[in-house]
Amino acid sequence: TWTMVNIVDEAVEDIRAQVGSKQIVCGLSGGVDSSVAAALVQRAVGDQLTCVFVDHGLLREGEAEQVERDFVAATGVDLHVVDAQERFLSALKGVEDPEEKRKIIGREFIRVFEDAAREIVAKAGAEGDEVEFLVQGTLYPDVVESGGGEGAANIKSHHNVGGLPDDLQFTLVEPLRWLFKDEVRAVGEQLGIPADIVWRHPFPGPGLAIRIIGSVDRERLEVLRRADAIARAELTEAGLDRHVWQFPVVLLANVHSVGVQGDERTYGHPVVLRPVSSEDAMTADWSRLPFELLERISTRITNEVREVNRVVLDVTSKPPATIEWE
Ligand code: XMP
Repeated sequence: TWTMVNIVDEAVEDIRAQVGSKQIVCGLSGGVDSSVAAALVQRAVGDQLTCVFVDHGLLREGEAEQVERDFVAATGVDLHVVDAQERFLSALKGVEDPEEKRKIIGREFIRVFEDAAREIVAKAGAEGDEVEFLVQGTLYPDVVESGGGEGAANIKSHHNVGGLPDDLQFTLVEPLRWLFKDEVRAVGEQLGIPADIVWRHPFPGPGLAIRIIGSVDRERLEVLRRADAIARAELTEAGLDRHVWQFPVVLLANVHSVGVQGDERTYGHPVVLRPVSSEDAMTADWSRLPFELLERISTRITNEVREVNRVVLDVTSKPPATIEWE
């Protein structure tokens, strides 16, 4: 029978057969897929694996620690952390256009990852080992979407990873390519990855940068991070994490709203709560969260995050709206 133990054992066998005694690199994002893929490779060929985590400073509260501390503790991977916060902030300075933000983040990410991979390749080379493989957390639905069948996906991915330069050619190892998301989560649990990571809601690669309407800077990120942490903590406290597909919190940094606190008139910013229900993010419906929960989130955000004086709820489905605001 096809059990989780079988899936793990079989994936481990396949990875060993493919990688042999060569070195292998994996980029971690903090998301479910890259975490589970890395953990499988770690189980298969642990001392040949080096993971890279690029901290672009656009993650939510606690997420970098989840990778650097909890994931490492649970799996024992050799982690190479690149603190690239300054670099991303200065590249994003003054940029308001959402697609421009995405382009900049994608470009910087590739550059930082390239540098890190080059270092790892050089170090391994000096020790007489070659780095030939790169782990990718591709799932079955991605494989089907990118042209269907093994052959097509192989042509697309083999020796051709996301625009890496010629001197950094890797063959991909894709241990999740036969799995659906729920199976990936089950494998993650089987491998002892912390529940916070295994059950994490989808989070976009460009992170909080596309949840700040307007330009991104350190202060705005901090405001959004605090508001977002409150919303997530209250959702968890209410036991509703798994009832919601995603729960973006969006800072309208370009909008000022008038408020009153004590005797003071304030001129702050609104945040938008965007909880949605969905199967696959292609369509979505706004989640009917309990009023008491919404009230707690609103009260706490406006009490605890001085810069925010208004909390609004997005009651639009997708279509016509998208899940994210940018
Ligand atoms: P939308 O906003 O288009 O989002 O309804 C659909 C899903 O995609 C995620 N999303 C992104 N993920 N990079 C990503 O990795 C992006 O630039 C990006 N934009 C949107 C979004 O969070 C939702 O899950």
